[in-house]
Amino acid sequence: MHFVSICHQHGCKLWNVSVLSILVLTACNVLLMLRLLHTECTNISADSVPKPHPPLPPLILDNVVISNVSPIFNVDPRLGRWDTRHTYKMIDHALVGTLFTELSESFSVCLATQTSLEKVHSLVQVAHHWNGPISAALFAAGDEEFSILQVRERVSFQLAFPKEKIPTTSLFVETSSHLDCTRPEASLGKLLKKRSPDIVRWRLRNPYPQNHMRNLARKNCQSPHVFLTDVDIIPSTNLADGLNNFFKTENCNALCAYVVPTYELDDRVQFPRNKTELVRLTGRGLARPFHHKVFIYNQFATNFSRWEQDKYINAVHVSHKVTNFEFLYEPFYVASDSVPPHDERFIGYGFTRNTQVYEMYVAGYEFFVLSPVFTIHWGLQHRKGRPSWRERQNTNNRKNFDQFKREVFARYHKDPLRMVAHQSKDNKLK
Ligand SMILES: *[C@@H]1O[C@H](CO)[C@@H](O)[C@H](O)[C@H]1NC(C)=O
Ligand SMILES: *[C@@H]1O[C@H](CO)[C@@H](O)[C@H](O)[C@H]1NC(C)=O
Ligand SMILES: *[C@@H]1O[C@H](CO)[C@@H](O)[C@H](O)[C@H]1NC(C)=O
Repeated sequence: MHFVSICHQHGCKLWNVSVLSILVLTACNVLLMLRLLHTECTNISADSVPKPHPPLPPLILDNVVISNVSPIFNVDPRLGRWDTRHTYKMIDHALVGTLFTELSESFSVCLATQTSLEKVHSLVQVAHHWNGPISAALFAAGDEEFSILQVRERVSFQLAFPKEKIPTTSLFVETSSHLDCTRPEASLGKLLKKRSPDIVRWRLRNPYPQNHMRNLARKNCQSPHVFLTDVDIIPSTNLADGLNNFFKTENCNALCAYVVPTYELDDRVQFPRNKTELVRLTGRGLARPFHHKVFIYNQFATNFSRWEQDKYINAVHVSHKVTNFEFLYEPFYVASDSVPPHDERFIGYGFTRNTQVYEMYVAGYEFFVLSPVFTIHWGLQHRKGRPSWRERQNTNNRKNFDQFKREVFARYHKDPLRMVAHQSKDNKLK
């Protein structure tokens, strides 16, 4: 059964009586839009494309061919793969871009990323900069989805749905026939407004399962190496090709992970075309290490000043090794996907990515910082009060962390940061 076809013909209303949760409805909405756009709305005018950020550098793949073939939605929501606690259902390769398989063979690194509704538009810029294969895990989506049309050839989409209560109100009562295909942005906005307050509240109340999504994205990559990011982390241009060349001669015979430094960038400037330009922006206060003001431990061990001093720009290479690894370091790195999984007991904010990196360190991984490549997070971040829901999620995860670090100790018989011996480090935790 093709659930998208059903959406298409009868509206997503049908699923109100299904066993699936409300988020399926949102995902259904996305797929519906993708389908509509792909089959009928390929004539999107340039000015209907949102420009949330300064203009992009030229597209790397100008030759993407948008075919007129309907995408094949390999989705039956009665099937799928449950997580270990039976709270989320995953669907692998729900929508596979026509180039994904081929690119997975020719590129040594697959970009794995995950996103919820609110940030999905970032995927467009990510795909403009990354011309290799992308595995994207979508939890729920909808806004500005049409843009994915431009990039979906290279992307394989995975879906995740929470098992949860069935909504009581009818959603999306109007079907696609009322939507204006030539104005996808407005149509999507219309669809989004039809989400009942229930869904919106549900989303606010329930944490986003970051680590489930990361594993989902990672495990559907087919290339030997994976670059796992969050969707709002934008790669420097030509990163995929640069890494491809790097891995041709890489000869790590231990456990190696390659850090791609992350900077945050003032929204008013253009995406830096190369490291020289990034370093210049840094000197003018328009770029700085990611989370520098908000939570410095996050990236500190990368040693940005050392990276900035490395002036060799002709090929991707190791700038230096991370020598001062500390707990709470959470770089974005490229590694073989045999690195430890992201622990799925951490749900929502706090202890999601840094616990995985911590386990890598305990397992004996060494971290090497690559240059002249980098990633960018838009917007200089400032310390501000955390919303209470985020604090709550962090507190819940902190409780699990105690157990987690004991398990890691039991698994590797090592405690290099003295996390089990000394509890005092906990005071440093977010
Ligand atoms: C695309 O849009 C242009 C301008 O609006 C129009 O002239 C053209 O016929 C459209 N093409 C298709 C295939 O609808
Ligand atoms: C880096 O980018 C700047 C600005 O676009 C350009 O002038 C410079 O030539 C670039 N440097 C290299 C080595 O590509
Ligand atoms: C960064 O590297 C420099 C050497 O270039 C070293 O002196 C400094 O201690 C390092 N800082 C950190 C935080 O590792």
